[in-house]
Amino acid sequence: MISPILPTYARMDVAFVRGVGARLYDAEDNEYLDFGSGIAVNCLGHCHPNLVKAISEQATKLWHTSNIYQIPGQEKLAKRLCNSTFADSMFFTNSGAEAVECAIKMTRRYHDANGHPEKYRIITFEGSFHGRTLATIAAGGSEKLTKGFGPVVDGFDVLRFFRDMRKVEEKITREAAAIMIEPIQGGGGIRPVSAENLQILRDLADKHGLLLIYDEIQCGVGRTGKLFCHEHSGVTPDIMPIAKGIGGGFPLGACLAIEKVAQHMTVGTHGSTYGGNPLAMAMGNAVLDTFDEESIIENVQKMSDKMRIEFMKLRKKYPEIIEMVRGLGLMMGLKLHVEPRDFIVQAFKNKMLIVAAGENTVRILPPLNITTADIDDAIKLLDKTCSDLLKKM
Ligand SMILES: Cc1ncc(COP(=O)(O)O)c(C=O)c1O
Repeated sequence: MISPILPTYARMDVAFVRGVGARLYDAEDNEYLDFGSGIAVNCLGHCHPNLVKAISEQATKLWHTSNIYQIPGQEKLAKRLCNSTFADSMFFTNSGAEAVECAIKMTRRYHDANGHPEKYRIITFEGSFHGRTLATIAAGGSEKLTKGFGPVVDGFDVLRFFRDMRKVEEKITREAAAIMIEPIQGGGGIRPVSAENLQILRDLADKHGLLLIYDEIQCGVGRTGKLFCHEHSGVTPDIMPIAKGIGGGFPLGACLAIEKVAQHMTVGTHGSTYGGNPLAMAMGNAVLDTFDEESIIENVQKMSDKMRIEFMKLRKKYPEIIEMVRGLGLMMGLKLHVEPRDFIVQAFKNKMLIVAAGENTVRILPPLNITTADIDDAIKLLDKTCSDLLKKM
């Protein structure tokens, strides 16, 4: 008989009952080191006291009103995000896919308002992941995402993840509206896009009148050692969907945009019942407060230097297991010679949690406030995982 929950996930055989920092506990109080952070979500670890306080206090005051009333927390969070990015305006959502949907709608609306309704196609890249709605699976494009859900939503041209993005120019048609890319592909296997390639895409977008969209849902909010990943390159987008880390574990996303795009999203053009409700805003603001108070971005830079060095040592020690270390900040990938699933299961047996990705890679996405002691523990567990797998080879 089918379970009362759709069987869409191959879930690990564990249920956690509590979490503290980078550690999770099951009902028998077994401790797991969580270097997956709920897929790059729990950026301040589990139950950070500031977030517990923020949600508890807000819960005693007001949860939800809908967007037909003023929500001061939205004004506050939006101003902060605008002040620290390229953006002039934003729309709050509950998830990443909704933020990408908003980016797609903004793109179409922008060209329509400028007298070019024929410009609706968005160029995306193989290996990308933009969500699970009908439009965002079409944007990701892989058969794994779209099979059985046809007809696939029209309007996406999924190109190869070119080493040299100048090749994109050949694929720009008169219907092209935007280029959308993750500055580091997350689900695709921690594949970074170089600063040169981002600049090439920016130049192509400007030359051909396209918008440039960065999906920073996974790589944003401090994950790579800058507030947003593209800051490493200095090349800004026109639209940027974000989610995951910004809510610290509360479902929250946003789609940020420059004025020339945002101005066309007038009254009635878009909406969300829950998006940006007072509880979500309390969490988003508390996440950014804590980033400031605890110098979280600086911590990412320090910890990632240490983690990278330790990973390189592991690669040297276990060349049969680890092929390559890649990524930026605390968004790291180990490209493997073994099956990622076997690696993840073995790490799980050793009480460490990490996440699968494409290209035979596992993702290491710890909370951004980890300590050197956490990294030492992680390296011990990964060392044991490699040595266990080696014995089985
Ligand atoms: C880059 C990227 N875009 C979009 C999404 C979709 O976000 P959500 O699952 O919150 O809809 C994800 C989720 O993993 C992601 O990593």
